[in-house]
Amino acid sequence: MSQSKNDDGTSENVVWHSGDVGRTHREAMLGQRAGTVWFTGLSGSGKSTVAVAVERHLAGAGRLCYRLDGDNLRHGLNGDLGFAEADRTENIRRTGEVCRLLVDAGVIVLASFVSPFRADRDAVRAMHRSAEMPFLEVYVEVPIEVAEARDPKGLYQKARAGEIRGFTGIDQPYEAPDQAELVLPTASLSVEESAESVVGMLRDQGLVGPA
Ligand code: ADX
Repeated sequence: MSQSKNDDGTSENVVWHSGDVGRTHREAMLGQRAGTVWFTGLSGSGKSTVAVAVERHLAGAGRLCYRLDGDNLRHGLNGDLGFAEADRTENIRRTGEVCRLLVDAGVIVLASFVSPFRADRDAVRAMHRSAEMPFLEVYVEVPIEVAEARDPKGLYQKARAGEIRGFTGIDQPYEAPDQAELVLPTASLSVEESAESVVGMLRDQGLVGPA
C-alpha cells in the first residue's frame, strides 16, 4: 500500500478533529500568553547559553516555558538527521511543528537551533503566523572568529582539520536574518545582559508581565 500526500504535505484521507478546550482557555489556566522565541546563530554563538538564562528568569517569574535545543533534539526526535541541507531543513520543519504544538499547549518555547537557512526559519515563522501565534526571531550574532575561538565542543577545530564536512560558517553557509525581532551581539554582551534583553522583548510583546 502506498502512502499518499496532498499538495500541502498533509496525509490523504485524514480529517482534523477539534476539541472543546482551546489555546486561549489553556493560556487563561496558565495565566500567560504563549509563543515561540527562536534563537538562530553559528555554533558557539551562545544560543543555548542565553536560552538557559532566559528560562531561569521566566521560571523564576512563574512562567511555563520549555527549551528545545538542536543538540538535544538530535538525541531523539531528530536523531535520524544529519547536517546536509535537506536534513537541516527537515530538522527545522519538525522542530517548527513541535513549537506549534507546545504553543498550542500554552507554553512559551525557547528554541535554539543553528538554523542556517533563511527559508527554513521563514517557513517556521509562516507556520506560526497562520496559527496566529507569536514568533520572535533572535539573531545571536557573533563574528565567526569569536565562535571559533570559543569552540566549546572542539568542533571548529575538527572542521578545520577536515574531520567534519559541511560545518556551518566553515564550508556551509549561514544566512543571517534580515527581519529578526532582536539581535544579540554576544561578543560584547554578558549572558545576563542578553537574557534581560530577551525578557524585555517578551514584556514588550505582552508574553511576560511588567517587571
Ligand atoms: S541545524 O543547522 O540543523 O539547525 P542544530 O542546531 O540542530 O543544526 O545542531 C547544531 C549542533 O550540532 C551544533 O551546535 C554542533 O554542536 C553540532 N554540529 C555537528 N556537526 C555540525 C555541522 N556540520 N554544522 C553545524 N553544527 C554541527
